[in-house]
Amino acid sequence: MATSIDETILLTGFMGSGKTMIGEALAKKLNKPFADIDKIIEEKEGMPIKDIFKKEGEAAFRAKEKAEITNYLTEASAGNAVVSVGGGSFLQKEIRNICMKNATVVFLHISWSAWLERLDMLVETRPVLHGRTISEIRTLYDDRQAIYDQHHYRVTVDGLDPEEASDKIISAFQ
Ligand code: S3P
Repeated sequence: MATSIDETILLTGFMGSGKTMIGEALAKKLNKPFADIDKIIEEKEGMPIKDIFKKEGEAAFRAKEKAEITNYLTEASAGNAVVSVGGGSFLQKEIRNICMKNATVVFLHISWSAWLERLDMLVETRPVLHGRTISEIRTLYDDRQAIYDQHHYRVTVDGLDPEEASDKIISAFQ
């Protein structure tokens, strides 16, 4: 699709890259509704994502993720919104394709060293980090970069607060 700022903007990128906070700031600036797919899933399921992983397993979570992203992006009301998706959603090719077709995809890139500073804050709520050593997490980070190759814009967010990062996204469209 055409990469217009007047269409839906979808933020993807590794967990903890700031998709939710940056998405909220961006939506406010552009006067668009904001949707966080992980929050939609948590509200529907009545439990945090880490409990969905524990009770139903990762595959069940991935299926919900696909259903919600598809629902959201194909709803007429979602034609001009800001949406953030979970960092693992792009593992599914169908999700990548749906997002590229129905939104302008912005990959929020964060360097490994900047990300590492956030690790302590993330580990409690991110089940994919549980039980992994730092070197295994590094491998996960490296492997995951390839799934974000499908995007319209790539914005590096190292050292930027949500206000600065959202301004940088808006500049990318100009
Ligand atoms: C995941 C990222 C999380 C959440 C779930 C799985 C992943 O979202 O969807 O814990 O596999 O990378 P954030 O990217 O918002 O952390």
